[in-house]
Amino acid sequence: MNWRVPLADLNFDAEEELAVFEVLRSRWLSMGEVTKNFEREFSDFMGVKHSIAVTNATAALHLAGVVIGLGVGDEVILPSLTFVATANAVRYTGATPVFADIESFDRLNISPASIESLVNDKTRAIMVMHYAGFACDMPAINEIAHRHNLVVLEDSAHAIGSILNGRKLGTFGRIGCFSFFSNKNMTTGEGGMLVTDDDELAERLRILRSHGMTSLSWDRHKGHASTYDVIDLGFNYRIDEIRSALGRVQLKKLPAANERRQELTTLYRELLFELVPEIQMPFSESREVSCYHILPVLLPENTNRSTFMENMKAQGVQTSMHYPAVHHFHIYENEWKNRGNDLPVTEAVSARQVTLPLYSTMKEEQVEWVVKAVKQALV
Ligand SMILES: Cc1ncc(COP(=O)(O)O)c(C=O)c1O
Repeated sequence: MNWRVPLADLNFDAEEELAVFEVLRSRWLSMGEVTKNFEREFSDFMGVKHSIAVTNATAALHLAGVVIGLGVGDEVILPSLTFVATANAVRYTGATPVFADIESFDRLNISPASIESLVNDKTRAIMVMHYAGFACDMPAINEIAHRHNLVVLEDSAHAIGSILNGRKLGTFGRIGCFSFFSNKNMTTGEGGMLVTDDDELAERLRILRSHGMTSLSWDRHKGHASTYDVIDLGFNYRIDEIRSALGRVQLKKLPAANERRQELTTLYRELLFELVPEIQMPFSESREVSCYHILPVLLPENTNRSTFMENMKAQGVQTSMHYPAVHHFHIYENEWKNRGNDLPVTEAVSARQVTLPLYSTMKEEQVEWVVKAVKQALV
């Protein structure tokens, strides 16, 4: 489909091409020096001690669960208004995801009050997700975690570069996990990163991402090691040099790209308010500096969403949904029903939510076109 305005687009130019060519010419493609540099630069950007690059954020979330020791019988509290990978990653460890509601129609983040109501003897961790790049209430959530001796993990897939109280999102919990999937604010196609200040966890994460081995092919290639032991049941979650090279360029571009997203979001807010006030745009009040990952809106109640999305498509505008509530997916619904905890705000938001296009190379005229299309699509 040739969209007039796609949902997302790349911010790539000759710099990314050159970076990839340089890796190809170096004749070393698997994880090595470029990845080490990418990790170091990512740590500097985030203000953390350790960054561990992996193949995608789902792998990052899985490893985070493994290193904090999640297993059968443990419960992890997380939002249902998230991408299914947040919950699946918990399931991979044998632990049970327990879904909490979101704060409100304006704040689509996990609700501290809902978290508190779900804590019990089996609860081991809280997995937050900073929806669209907007911060969960981390002071309140960390306070609950502290009181009940729970580990906080951050699914920061949406939140790369977002700041709360002077700190980057992803640094409030024990481990933060980032995604570099194609539609993210910075992308390597597929890719992910874990960040932590904990030396021991970082060491174990590095070993677990590469089969539990004590040395890498790269170390042996460089002559730093000639053999290895396997000391943990690891995985192959390694990134490669091509993607790390893309990541280094994208990271440099990120601050300007996030600022541009902010400008475009402000323009959306003004135009929607002026032309289609019946559309609700969440996150009207900011508690953070967001990275503005996506542009969620809520349709007026009783609008037929499928018809609306078809009408947008007819005008060349791609839209999406973030998200169908995870607790209603086939593999989660029975467990959720048995538990009997209602998620009224998640249900209502999930039924009315639509995502409009947002990307850093978007033009003002395209925002204007989308808003006019929204007005047309509602009638
Ligand atoms: C909130 C959230 N969590 C996890 C993921 C998984 O990321 P990845 O595709 O890098 O595995 C995504 C990706 O879209 C996401 O949006």
